Amino acid sequence: MKKTLLITGGAGFIGSHVVRLFVNKYPDYKIVNLDALTYAGNLENLKDIENAPNYVFEKADITDGPHINSIFEKYNFDGVIHLAAESHVDRSIEDPNAFIQTNVMGTANLLNAARALWKNNMDGKRFYHVSTDEVYGSLGEEGFFLETTPYDPQSPYSASKAASDHLVRAYGNTYHLPFVITNCSNNYGPNHFPEKLVPLFINNIKNNKPLPVYGDGKYTRDWLYVKDHARAIDMVFHDGRNGETYNIGGFNEWQNIELVKLLCKEMDVRLGRELGTSEQLIAYIKDRPGHDRRYAIDANKLNKELGWYPSVTFEEGLRLTIDWYMANEDWLNHVTSGDYKKYYEKQYKM
Ligand code: NAD
Ligand code: DAU
Repeated sequence: MKKTLLITGGAGFIGSHVVRLFVNKYPDYKIVNLDALTYAGNLENLKDIENAPNYVFEKADITDGPHINSIFEKYNFDGVIHLAAESHVDRSIEDPNAFIQTNVMGTANLLNAARALWKNNMDGKRFYHVSTDEVYGSLGEEGFFLETTPYDPQSPYSASKAASDHLVRAYGNTYHLPFVITNCSNNYGPNHFPEKLVPLFINNIKNNKPLPVYGDGKYTRDWLYVKDHARAIDMVFHDGRNGETYNIGGFNEWQNIELVKLLCKEMDVRLGRELGTSEQLIAYIKDRPGHDRRYAIDANKLNKELGWYPSVTFEEGLRLTIDWYMANEDWLNHVTSGDYKKYYEKQYKM
């Protein structure tokens, strides 16, 4: 084996696409997927590669420092790609502590374990921290987030991610821990937990349930197909410059309401419904507290330095996503049963 890599959060949405890409593309790497399997983690996401000879799963919680240290000693990792996190803004408003524990303390535990393991030789080692554009706060109608945009997080989720980014840079500066950070915009695609806008609305349209649009629906996000994010992570992990930050985005801004209308149209076609049927499900509801108005990423640094650009257009990506959800009813049924039902009823009172 040429390298042994730790990928945290590999049973989640983005992590599962990253694990699959690395397991298939690098047969001479050993890939260790470490995940606590919270409500958002699902090993069904990785059924197709679970028996690959270069893949190992470790069930562990990154908030458990001693357990994390023992896993670093067991595998002697050459690199870490850290995705494990509490990731849903609405849940962070309900229960900030879980976000502080996992996103801040959990990241600190991983940094400490990497520092201890690599203390005598940091050559060729790399700690890759996967972060979000939400750390930059909210934009007005103009402008884009650059890597130099000052941090201004607005939700408990984004504040906890910002804190973890600062810790990674501090370990780089103080202990010379080799690191890279990427800050990415909104992802969508297969295996996305249906609490987030795109998969929640696909599921609701399919089941003729209301589509809860927050506030005036004119909030703007920049959408990226998840496999293009995984490609970017591969490029930055291998070729990104040490100590650098790279923004990743889709060059693809949509107001929520316009996105929802497009989704309704595509779903009408897919379900053989008369055009306009699904739009009738749109229901404007109370806004998310502290809702960020607009995110838009300038991803030109990554494009210029490493040649990355999204490979999938939004229309294509949305169709691929809808097709995946329609073909994977069992997956949806499994993840929407139990605890998720309780969360949904409390959040939306619908
Ligand atoms: P997700 O919620 O789908 O998955 C998170 C994974 O982390 C799950 O498998 C979960 O079981 C695991 N996890 C949670 N707490 C853990 C703990 N204490 N110990 C070990 N594992 C734990 O998240 P996602 O959407 O795939 O996001 C992955 C990463 O990418 C996160 O760091 C997130 O901040 C970042 N990000 C997400 C987006 C997006 O649009 N989804 C965009 C930019 C950045
Ligand atoms: O920008 C990157 C971030 O994108 C990631 O760091 C987060 O992990 C990820 O969850 C996502 O955060 P958002 O808050 O932007 O995603 P969400 O899908 O929750 O919401 C997208 C937009 O849609 C946002 O403006 C809120 C709105 N929305 C969301 C839900 C769930 C609604 O109007 N109704 C809803 O029911």
